[in-house]
Amino acid sequence: MKVKKLILGIYNVNCYIVTLENNSDLESKPNSCFIIDPGADFKSIDAYISGENLHPEFILNTHGHFDHLGAAPEVIRKYRIPFYLHKDDEDIALNPKKNMSSLLGSGALSFDAYSLIDDKILDLLEEHDIYIYEMPGHTPGSIIIKMQNYLFTGDLLFRGAVGRTDLPGGSSKELALSLRKLKKFSPELAVNPGHGAASTLKNEFLNNYYLSDDFLEGGINWF
Ligand SMILES: [Fe+2]
Repeated sequence: MKVKKLILGIYNVNCYIVTLENNSDLESKPNSCFIIDPGADFKSIDAYISGENLHPEFILNTHGHFDHLGAAPEVIRKYRIPFYLHKDDEDIALNPKKNMSSLLGSGALSFDAYSLIDDKILDLLEEHDIYIYEMPGHTPGSIIIKMQNYLFTGDLLFRGAVGRTDLPGGSSKELALSLRKLKKFSPELAVNPGHGAASTLKNEFLNNYYLSDDFLEGGINWF
């Protein structure tokens, strides 16, 4: 497993390209990969995939905001791969006002090909050792993705911060409940957020105010 981070688009979203297999002894056979949050810079994604001789299998999105999926239509068109999204973010992803694409000057974004995550898709992901956890708050359908020692936290958790909850469908109370769930994860996990620098859960448990008992046991009642 190899994880490549590409920082894409005007909102500097972290797109992760995760290589699933290593066939390096077979130079002609491409390695499989999947793409987490293809931000709006298809050329960079495509250049990396071609340069590494990768074969994308699917796109998996942490949530439906446009900065995390701006290149999805082009990736789908070129590679003819499925695009997996949580059902509770379908409305956001498909609505240019809610996914913010029409408000932020990038032109309305829409999709005609996507698959809502269901039990069949969860089984398929588990075959690759990929596990999905529902973590609403930033959006209703926000998820985090765990694979081996990696945790891809989308806009739930950043280094020293958490995602905003003032956009359509956001909920501070839901976010706090999701952060409580996160406290049960192993501190050894590497945090790979949707924006900004990487961290570890241990570091966040120690230094991120929003994961402190003060906030989660006291502040949760403020909302
Ligand atoms: Fe977001």
